[in-house]
Amino acid sequence: MRELSGAPARRENHHGRRVLVRALLLDYAERRPRLVDSPEPPEGEVRLRILECGTCGTDRDLATFAFGTAPAGESQLILGHEAVAEVAASSVSHLQAGTLVVPAVRRACPGPCASCAAGRRDLCLTGAYQERGIFGLHGYCAEWAVDRAEDLFAVPATLAEVAVLVEPMSVVEKACDTAVRLHPGQPAHLLVLGAGAVGMLAAWAGLRRGWLVTVVSREPEDAPRARLLRSAGVIYRTTLPAKEADVILEACGAADLAAAALGCLRPLGVLVVLGARNAAVQLPFLDLIVGNRTITGSVNAGPEHFRQAIATLAALEPAWLRPMIERRPLHRALESLAAAPGDAIKVVHALH
Ligand code: BGC
Repeated sequence: MRELSGAPARRENHHGRRVLVRALLLDYAERRPRLVDSPEPPEGEVRLRILECGTCGTDRDLATFAFGTAPAGESQLILGHEAVAEVAASSVSHLQAGTLVVPAVRRACPGPCASCAAGRRDLCLTGAYQERGIFGLHGYCAEWAVDRAEDLFAVPATLAEVAVLVEPMSVVEKACDTAVRLHPGQPAHLLVLGAGAVGMLAAWAGLRRGWLVTVVSREPEDAPRARLLRSAGVIYRTTLPAKEADVILEACGAADLAAAALGCLRPLGVLVVLGARNAAVQLPFLDLIVGNRTITGSVNAGPEHFRQAIATLAALEPAWLRPMIERRPLHRALESLAAAPGDAIKVVHALH
């Protein structure tokens, strides 16, 4: 495997067929991320020309080797699970070459368990699932990839510019569905903790559901993302509001803020934890009991959530979505992994 350092490698054989693909990967032997020319993927049901790939907190955590695994028998993992691709070749009739697609992240556990067998790998019962670009399977931050058709969601070409938000939006849609399912009444007020990409998408998803939305985050009130949220009708605050939330979506990674926000939940309210890490926090069990309040976790997304995410993005104002995305050339990917994105809400790398 050849490190990229300027002069491009010979990437096509004498038939004009590509033999190397540019990829961002984690090298578990050297314990560092690398941008390399790596062998092209094997044949598969659908061959994908990857257009772009988003970077998120999970990728940055993976790059610290806090978790994640390379495919069995390999010492490298191609990163990337927020992908947009074009079908280059397909052996299934319903997926034509040229179709824009977003892949699912998770693959079934061996067995598979009842959830995975029913297509809800996001609800895997064994924990032995695999995730592209995270656990045991190569991801999509490479020029080419292969997949099975059942793992791909077709996206209308009109959404090309924002399709990289489908995967994180699918996580948000699942979290909203979970909250609605667990709330025994009619939730009307959403409180979002954090104004990163997931927090912003949660705010947009809440607006689409007709909810009153408040976002609490640490960015100052005049930060561009705070202004963007306010321009859409979201209430933006840097401190927790009064007891007025029916649903809280935690998208800030901070357990202490999540625990403190329980004080904002109205009776019957539901807190969905998406990113908080383990921490010693005090939980108000008595409030949970007497107010029929619920705390739950949510991860990944099912096929229906991907379809909902596509529908939601199609229904939203492009002016809310476009400013979230900062596109960078692939050669900046190592820099993007090393540092939090600063003012950029979602950093995306172009592969083609
Ligand atoms: C992804 C999910 C994935 C989770 C845990 C998130 O960044 O969006 O699809 O299940 O990481 O690996």
